[in-house]
Amino acid sequence: MILVTGAAGYIGSHFVRYYLKQNPDSGLVAVDNLGLGNVLSLDQTNPNLHLYKVSIGDRAAVDKIFASHKIDAVVHFAANAYVGESQSKPFKYFENNVCETLRFLQSMQQAQVQKIVFSSTCATYGNPCYVPIDENHPQKPINTYGSTKLMIEEALRALALSVQVKYVCLRYFNAAGADPDPTEGQEIGESHEPESHLIPLALSAALNSDKKNQRLKVFGDDYATADGTCVRDYIHVNDLAEAHCLALKLLNSDSFSGDVEESNRLGLALNLGTAHGASVKEVIAAVESVTGKAVPYDLVARRPGDPPSLVADYTKAAQVLGWQPKFDLRQTVESAYNWELKRRY
Ligand SMILES: NC(=O)c1ccc[n+]([C@@H]2O[C@H](COP(=O)([O-])OP(=O)(O)OC[C@H]3O[C@@H](n4cnc5c(N)ncnc54)[C@H](O)[C@@H]3O)[C@@H](O)[C@H]2O)c1
Repeated sequence: MILVTGAAGYIGSHFVRYYLKQNPDSGLVAVDNLGLGNVLSLDQTNPNLHLYKVSIGDRAAVDKIFASHKIDAVVHFAANAYVGESQSKPFKYFENNVCETLRFLQSMQQAQVQKIVFSSTCATYGNPCYVPIDENHPQKPINTYGSTKLMIEEALRALALSVQVKYVCLRYFNAAGADPDPTEGQEIGESHEPESHLIPLALSAALNSDKKNQRLKVFGDDYATADGTCVRDYIHVNDLAEAHCLALKLLNSDSFSGDVEESNRLGLALNLGTAHGASVKEVIAAVESVTGKAVPYDLVARRPGDPPSLVADYTKAAQVLGWQPKFDLRQTVESAYNWELKRRY
């Protein structure tokens, strides 16, 4: 049985659904304090799903969960993930992303659970020295959110040195899209409050073009990119879910030995992206093409700390996991659009 933290969040809920479909005979313990996630994103009629409304840093409650189930591995999504908020409230991020995770790792250690897949991010790289970005790129985050994720990567490396954990850090680029094959009435998708991601914001602007406050903001068009707007790598959330399943499989294999260049460590880090960058204007064009509606937008000043281009080199994930992203930008936008039309939460 696996334990999933942040299971009621956007990526966590997609992973839970994907995993339970792939492993219909396996149990899954979902831990989420529901501070940000939505309980409707989890199918509570599934007898294999055991949901606990608990904070991951609550040692007593988490120790009890580990004692009540035979947990073999953890998939750790729980975190706060707003870059802007992390700058204005850094200690909220240190507490939730770092302190809570460290206490959770202690619970894992006490329960003698060694294997963990950790949600890391391209934000740990900071301003890119080169693009596409591979895993050897220097990690110099330029915001507190990225720093907190790097701190946990470092904690896992340190613990792996004393062979207390075996880990895979998955550094996602921009997660996007929704499960394209939802059971009627069970649709899941992206629902952040406030929403800060481009695709749902562009869809919302297209679908609410009569509302002035829903207009999309485009932050700068004078970057050194083909059309002047920022370029990002949009990876479908189900492609992420598949990579997590493969990472768990890898951790379970006898041959797992971590990075070759770090042969004494039982851990590795992998980028997850598509290797294709799309500019803000290209995303707007894709949303307009999929919805058949114009995306009203205002061009505003650059945001501090937005690098011109972030694109993944995912060669290592392809080699180590045998993983390939399946969704292109149009399919990702289509799935997000279908969710917007049927949004339940
Ligand atoms: N969305 C992206 O594009 C992206 C990119 C890179 C990395 N990530 C990482 O992926 C993970 C999931 O992101 P998301 O977009 O699904 O976020 P989300 O906010 O939708 O989900 C996070 C979930 O974790 C829960 N949570 C937070 N702190 C908790 C705690 N202390 N105890 C228990 N539950 C807690 C929240 O209630 C929520 O359900 C995060 O770790 C994030 O940093 C996301």
